[in-house]
Amino acid sequence: MLIRKPPAIPNSEITPEQIYRDRRRFMTAGAAGLATAALSPILQAGLQPDDTVTPESIVTQYNNFYEFGTDKSDPAAYAHEMTTDPWTVTVSGEANKTGEFAFEDIIKGLDVEERIYRFRCVEAWSMVVPWMGIPLKDVLAQFEPTGNAKFVEFETLYRPDEMRGQRGFFSSIDWPYVEGLRLDEAYHPLTLMVTGLYGKELPNQNGAPWRLMVPWKYGFKSIKSIVSIRFTEREPVNTWKQLQASEYGFYANVNPKVSHPRWSQASERRLPNSLFSSNRMPTLMFNGYEEEVGHLYAGMDLRKYY
Ligand code: MTE
Repeated sequence: MLIRKPPAIPNSEITPEQIYRDRRRFMTAGAAGLATAALSPILQAGLQPDDTVTPESIVTQYNNFYEFGTDKSDPAAYAHEMTTDPWTVTVSGEANKTGEFAFEDIIKGLDVEERIYRFRCVEAWSMVVPWMGIPLKDVLAQFEPTGNAKFVEFETLYRPDEMRGQRGFFSSIDWPYVEGLRLDEAYHPLTLMVTGLYGKELPNQNGAPWRLMVPWKYGFKSIKSIVSIRFTEREPVNTWKQLQASEYGFYANVNPKVSHPRWSQASERRLPNSLFSSNRMPTLMFNGYEEEVGHLYAGMDLRKYY
């Protein structure tokens, strides 16, 4: 159901060898635009027959990471100025185990999986990306959230010395960048804490050393370079909602029927198609993951909770 796989092979028994075989297949075929239909079923939840893996050069050079500037090319140009080792994460709020943890200690012993996900930005462009990561649930459960924890809030590094976008007088963002999820969204098996791309370490511009990936939500939910995890009773106020609540909500589920006030969300531009291309594709409810996540929002008015 959640991550389709051959029923005969439980997740736990999928060997690294199988994952590597698949990886080698899409990496060698990548330049030619491999049809993702050729991949094993574990990698296919949400993928559509025409989806092909986006070239790595696009994924690592066309970025949103406002801490380094607002141009798509700024993160690739400047994110090397961010120090990612050592990396300390503060865990706080409604959990039994809180405090400061070294990044390596948090992920030690947790299995990294490879997942190919559709990725849809609120700006109406999209990609298909082979992420490497740890199910967020495995990361969070070790801190033993209490019964009061209904949400989890994340913060990005605040370090103006190394993040030139945080130094600007004219930046309207109240740093650090904040995002959050309901705890059941965070515990959903599709939600990943990403540590790599294309079988390699995560580049700084993509959110090293770890960033969130929630494939059924607009890309701004996928907060990068996380240094704080807080379990809360109340819904966190995320950066984009704080900036413009009439345009960006807390849920940010991909929804072709609810337009952004300034543009339609009914279709999308699949990179590397240019802005001027007429070749757009229809946007899918929950970005194609409706079967897996629709139940999380049963009975909710998705026009109100956008
Ligand atoms: N995280 C932080 N800290 N700062 C940002 O500006 N941008 C978001 C999200 N995470 C952003 C962020 C947006 S709008 C998108 S679309 C994705 O990161 C882009 O991820 P990518 O550059 O890896 O494609």
